[in-house]
Amino acid sequence: MSAPLEFGGVPLAGVIDALREVEPRADACWIYDLDAFAARVRRFQRAFAPLSATVALALKANSLPALLESARDLGLGAEAGSIGELELSRRLGFDPARTILNGNGRSAEEAEWAARHGLHSVNADHVGELDLLEREASRSSARVRVALRVNPSIEAGGHPYVATGGDDAKFGIAPGEALEAWTARERWPHLRLDGMHLHIGSQLQDAGPLQRGVEAALRLTDESARRGAALGFVNLGGGFGVDYSGSGAEFPLEGYAEWLTGRARGRSLEWLLEPGRWLTAPIGALLAEVRAVKRRDGQRFVVLAAGMNDLLRPALYGARHRIVPIAPRAGADTPAVVVGPVCESADVFASGIELPPLEAGDRVAILDAGAYGAAMSSNYNGRGRLAELTAAGGELTRVRAGEGPDALLARRTADRLEPGKRGARTTE
Ligand code: LLP
Repeated sequence: MSAPLEFGGVPLAGVIDALREVEPRADACWIYDLDAFAARVRRFQRAFAPLSATVALALKANSLPALLESARDLGLGAEAGSIGELELSRRLGFDPARTILNGNGRSAEEAEWAARHGLHSVNADHVGELDLLEREASRSSARVRVALRVNPSIEAGGHPYVATGGDDAKFGIAPGEALEAWTARERWPHLRLDGMHLHIGSQLQDAGPLQRGVEAALRLTDESARRGAALGFVNLGGGFGVDYSGSGAEFPLEGYAEWLTGRARGRSLEWLLEPGRWLTAPIGALLAEVRAVKRRDGQRFVVLAAGMNDLLRPALYGARHRIVPIAPRAGADTPAVVVGPVCESADVFASGIELPPLEAGDRVAILDAGAYGAAMSSNYNGRGRLAELTAAGGELTRVRAGEGPDALLARRTADRLEPGKRGARTTE
């Protein structure tokens, strides 16, 4: 395995020092290779071009405005899971007709937004949500296109926190219930209820679970058509896995796309995809300085300036990201436990990994951190979120500032509130 010493034509060795010109105390940051991002987006689009699929980037994976602008310019749509992501996509100029709204706890505010701005579609997580969408659509005299999220009982394996299509997952409704709603769709005259949504799980390593999902979806669209309620579109969600180990075992993207194109042939269905991780994980890294190296009971602990508040995936899912020294020192690799500075025993990026000699002040890159990295970071332990940089065509740009201690006071208020004054909440 060789370290990618450059991102977007920028050598990683000088990145933290360059950042210090504007953030003198920075000792860690995120970096994204926008050239590599464009190449992945084009590869994804090429693979699914024969299907004419709408590809909407899952904003939850990475919501950095500079990256989203690049996604928009490359022709991606946006998959939003909240009012915040809807507004972000709108303000960054994503076409509402290529924007999708997900989520299993629909708020009236989101439903109203969808009716007012006009989205490609809203994925409703249960039948009761259709009444809420109907009410808001009727108020805005709009017609909202809706898919029902179906849970096809497909166990995708992997970490239970990211498996979403199995019997125990909170998402979606049973196929039979969806069929009943599609066939009774005139009950919701302001909705165009002609879609099905599936999202089997995330970080799928092979195409098997996705293919089983597609087969289930096709059976259901056929049955719905047989009952007189033909569907117009199927949204297959995301889930395309990446190779965190560096072993070279890639998700078979082109093979899956070709298979899907074959299965879709002869049916007049529109297809949508919502990839997040596949497009963004490999193009991002978390760079961190080594703050200390200590030995105890024969173990070597390497303490980084970045911690679990920055990249939560190892602590939350036991995820393992490759960690590579940016300028490796000569000497044999020996085992190391790589940890962060947060006051939690779970603040461990890797244990038992082999690394060359490291000393305080050295820098490492934690790879494949572009998805669910900065997006899941927090101020835990009073730590400011890190600066985010992009590299493209040999140019390095700070596109989001790191937070200092001021961030911890930024939302302070002293608003006197009067419980009971507005009376009990009423439903209309
Ligand atoms: N569509 C829906 C409805 C989703 O819930 C998700 C991810 C996606 C698309 C994008 O999935 P992807 O292509 O990225 O697999 N924080 C976890 C992953 C959670 C995924 C949540 N849903 C992690 O760091 O592994």
